[in-house]
Amino acid sequence: MPEAHDVRPLQFAYWVPNVSGGLVVSDIEQRTDWSYEYNRKLAVLAEDNGFDYALTQVRYMASYGAAYQHESTSFSLALLLATTRLKVIAAVHPGLWHPAVLAKLIATADHLSAGRIAVNVVSGWFKGEFTALGEPWLEHDERYRRAEEFIRVLQASWTAERAEFAGDFYRLRGYDLKPKPVQSPHPEIFQGGNSTAARAMAGRVSDWYFSNGKDFDGVAEQVAEVGAAAAANGRRVRFGLNGFLIARDTEAEARETLREIVAKADPEAVRGFRDAVRQAGGSTTDGKGMWADSSFDDLVQYNDGFRSKLIGTPEQIAHRLVDYRARGVDLALLGFLHYHEEVEYFGSHVLPIVRALEADADRGAGVPEPIPVKG
Ligand SMILES: Cc1cc2nc3c(=O)[nH]c(=O)nc-3n(C[C@H](O)[C@H](O)[C@H](O)COP(=O)(O)O)c2cc1C
Repeated sequence: MPEAHDVRPLQFAYWVPNVSGGLVVSDIEQRTDWSYEYNRKLAVLAEDNGFDYALTQVRYMASYGAAYQHESTSFSLALLLATTRLKVIAAVHPGLWHPAVLAKLIATADHLSAGRIAVNVVSGWFKGEFTALGEPWLEHDERYRRAEEFIRVLQASWTAERAEFAGDFYRLRGYDLKPKPVQSPHPEIFQGGNSTAARAMAGRVSDWYFSNGKDFDGVAEQVAEVGAAAAANGRRVRFGLNGFLIARDTEAEARETLREIVAKADPEAVRGFRDAVRQAGGSTTDGKGMWADSSFDDLVQYNDGFRSKLIGTPEQIAHRLVDYRARGVDLALLGFLHYHEEVEYFGSHVLPIVRALEADADRGAGVPEPIPVKG
């Protein structure tokens, strides 16, 4: 559990729909669009409706339900230039970038955006993509060893004069990146991944750890383990939780939307995705990590977003969000079915209740008992 003095208001991020097909692998009608025009308007709406961050996805070719994709770093920069307060987190794969080249790009983007860019380092699950690009596909824990070196090279490039680095994957020989980024000590580093290797890496080098969708127990277990790993290194790592949010005026409407999403799932795409993500934490000796125990229904939302149960009335969802905060969640990463409409509904109907409940909790009233949500 977080120290009382360290609990801040919950922050919010949204998944940028920069790949086609929306955030669910379903044939349900979705008004979400992956175009720049749609996303530019969405980013402005999001910053006006209480969102602190936007997270782009990195995908280089069609996967399961994402036939078209816009590249993450360039798209992130475009969104930054269209907004004034929103921070944008660009997802990147170690293995497909030289980290110092990326450090240079991000430093420039930091200047162009007055200090609002961040990165999400993802170790990857899509072997076919690496193979198609002619790059070797490393075994799971080796991908994390490379990801950690990647992060250390980013940090060294951003902070050191004439940076030196001698690793198994990357080397720097007096690299002098100038100008340094605007943000001090450097742009924030998020990471995706929930395996044992991911948790240990977060404790050593990342600023933020993202969890796939989880119930309270799944969150508590990770908060404790990542917190201990960070403390062992004299650090504090912030915790982000994914959730697919369906807020409707009545609980029945929200549950009906979830039912329809799952009923109209594309079974071939979901099964293909399930087979491909066996490359993630489930492939390690302890079998721990993202998607290790996901059901078919869970995978209709790529990142297990239904498992966080942010589905119901604004009041039910707000209670649940504040409950997650009390368990150590610093940031909720949200996906939606119809982004434009639902981001506005979130800002006007859900967020004010969250803020009121947080104020109650911080005044010592304690976090109220959660309103039960079925499913
Ligand atoms: C919030 C979040 C965002 C992610 N975004 C991407 C992405 O854009 N592209 C990608 O290939 N993988 C992405 N991943 C998945 C990671 O590449 C990795 O396969 C996954 O985290 C499995 O890690 P694990 O084996 O440590 O559990 C993301 C993961 C999380 C948690």
